Amino acid sequence: MAGGIISSNNAKEYPGKVTAFMRLSGIMAAACGLMFGYDIGISGGVTSMDVFLKKFFLSVYMKKQAASSNQNNYCKFDSQLLTLFTSSLYITGLIGSIVASYASRRFGRKATMLSGGAVYLVGAAVNGAAYAVWMLILGRLLLGAGIGLVIQAAPMFLSEIALPQKRGFWNSGFQLMITIGILVANLVNYGTGKMKGDIGWRLSLGLAAVPGIIVFVGTFFLPETPNSLIEQGEEGKALAMLKKIRGVEDVNEEFADLLEASEASKKVKNPWRAIVTRKYRPQFLITLLIPFFQQLTGINVVMFYAPVLFQTLGFKNDASLMSAVITGLVNVLATFVAFFIVDRFGRRVLFFEGGFQMLISQVAIGFVLLAKFGTKGVATLSSGWAVLVVVLICTYTAAFAWSWGPLGWLLPSEIFQLEIRSAGVAINASVNLFMTFVVAQAFLPALCHVKFGLFFIFACILIIMTSFVYYLLPETRNIPIEDVPKIFNKHWFWKRYASNEEEEDRDRNTT
Ligand code: BGC
Repeated sequence: MAGGIISSNNAKEYPGKVTAFMRLSGIMAAACGLMFGYDIGISGGVTSMDVFLKKFFLSVYMKKQAASSNQNNYCKFDSQLLTLFTSSLYITGLIGSIVASYASRRFGRKATMLSGGAVYLVGAAVNGAAYAVWMLILGRLLLGAGIGLVIQAAPMFLSEIALPQKRGFWNSGFQLMITIGILVANLVNYGTGKMKGDIGWRLSLGLAAVPGIIVFVGTFFLPETPNSLIEQGEEGKALAMLKKIRGVEDVNEEFADLLEASEASKKVKNPWRAIVTRKYRPQFLITLLIPFFQQLTGINVVMFYAPVLFQTLGFKNDASLMSAVITGLVNVLATFVAFFIVDRFGRRVLFFEGGFQMLISQVAIGFVLLAKFGTKGVATLSSGWAVLVVVLICTYTAAFAWSWGPLGWLLPSEIFQLEIRSAGVAINASVNLFMTFVVAQAFLPALCHVKFGLFFIFACILIIMTSFVYYLLPETRNIPIEDVPKIFNKHWFWKRYASNEEEEDRDRNTT
């Protein structure tokens, strides 16, 4: 009854090879993930640097200094202004991805990524030069807008240029770049954390310009996807581009499928109104739930607050940053597992294994904190326990990195019909950023109040989300992107939303 069995009938292989042109384009588009990743990784380290806190968040610095053996470890970093610095980016990111849904449909995926790189670059400059909190926040708002634009367009671009049987592989490249961005940021923080004066944090924030430049320059040379060219009425160019990307002349079957999808697409004038109609309900709900759940795994607790979290556990400043580097490395390496499994064994296998492993890790972390800190949080961990916590955070991170990490971008980019793909992918990006904001904002106060219990809450959510995958997420492996929506018509639950012609006409007239 669960979703996986249904799909294999739709598997289809178009002729084509992975050309050098396709490879370069794929790597370049995936590089957009660097911008997102660098930012995720940099803020946690910077907000644990004393000089930075002293300059911009004096009250947090004083509280941290006052932390003595009788102070509650769970609460020492709780400050709304500090968390606002981290999460302000996600507000404009959300707006950026909605703007991107129009831009990527109207002007194409490439133009959207290019403008994202440019806005992000300005944000990096403002942040590196900041002398007051408002500049820090302004810089982050700009970085956010840039990120919103690219995280909408890049996964869609990747799924559209990849051969169906390699789509998971190429799309996972986006996640790989996110993890590399996070790791590089952790390493930068590790180095700059040791520097005297303001130079350390300025370098950390200012170096965001590097991924910005890579994306801005790199996307300039990108092609437009055939799907996007068709959407803009450029059928001739789309056919030529498809031949170039696939490296073969015989692209007729794939092109015919693209044209068919585009015919349906032309009938939809307003994708945002269409996407909430009954016909698209399965994809709409799935694309809301995937990023919602992805963030409720608690991954960004580790990504943003690893140094802060490790300090909470009693690690010294340097050891905290080093441990964050270790988790960053595990995050990158484990993503490679997804590359080799996602198109061979499918998305669902990764979801199940990853969900189970994260569950075990979260429960174990909860028990360690309960045993060592209890409810008062006034102990420090001995080195044996500290190593155990780092190992558990690594097994948790690895599981995320080969499951919900890449799949959180892949699934939403491959389940939509062309006419609502831009809007659907924007919903994924915005919910992702919104939930990141919520988790970032809520984590430190929640740790302060719910204490070790927080990790048990994450574990319960993991049970719910894995059941969601089991019952409601069909397998999409090997199915051409324009055929994926058809699998919902055969799914035990979603088939109730399959439109008949009459309903489709009614939907069209209202959109
Ligand atoms: C998530 C980010 C997360 C990152 C960790 C991404 O898929 O969307 O929120 O920080 O993975 O690698």
